[in-house]
Amino acid sequence: MRFDVLTLFPEMFEGFFSSSIMKRAMDQRLVEASLVNFRDYSTDKHRMVDDTPYGGGGGMVLKPEPLFRAVEALTEETQVRPPVLMMSPQGTPFTQKKAEALSRHSRLILLCGHYEGFDERIRRHLVDEEISIGDYVLTGGELAAMVVMDSIIRLVPGVLGNAGSAEEDSFSTGLLEYPQYTRPADFRGWKVPDVLLSGHHAQIARWRRQQSLERTLERRPDLLEHAPLTDEERAWLKQRKSDS
Ligand code: ADE
Repeated sequence: MRFDVLTLFPEMFEGFFSSSIMKRAMDQRLVEASLVNFRDYSTDKHRMVDDTPYGGGGGMVLKPEPLFRAVEALTEETQVRPPVLMMSPQGTPFTQKKAEALSRHSRLILLCGHYEGFDERIRRHLVDEEISIGDYVLTGGELAAMVVMDSIIRLVPGVLGNAGSAEEDSFSTGLLEYPQYTRPADFRGWKVPDVLLSGHHAQIARWRRQQSLERTLERRPDLLEHAPLTDEERAWLKQRKSDS
């Protein structure tokens, strides 16, 4: 999996690339990442990447030339251009499903904007997809690009030590994750549920599933509309809703 990140602030990625899972994945060559400062592709003698908007109004707009030239330089020798993703609050809301779909590509190009916005021709003619990480506005796309990369790399085979750990996450099952406990079995009088100490794998799996359902119903009932549930679980939910 390779990421090419186009940004005016490559230094923002230093901590992310040199720590934890991302570092390990890069050290093991499971993930490769390059940072491109698209200011280097400015055609302007002052290395300008933005300009005032046509029609007036405040703020600055990212010019098309540097971003087009940077993407073209990256893809000069590739037969099939990898998807170009723009980080933007106007994009499609990012989800686990989208992370899973993107993780099936071997290479992605991520554009991070700053300032007021992008010239519309970048959106229309360079970008394949706009992604928003939530309904709030960041000062730039860098944090969003890190969020997107982080959620994708953990799905790349071999990146997480324990292969099961990505599959049982919140959202991967369509539900929120069940409660987890570790030692001690009794902490300040707060005990671990007996079933988890029982060694009964089938009962534990049942309890966990039930807890996931309860937690999702309580916190994110919207997720239940699309979660894959058994007939028995649907019946239980209906009953729960009519009880309350
Ligand atoms: N850039 C600024 N705000 C953003 C958001 N919410 N998601 C993605 N990119 C952004």
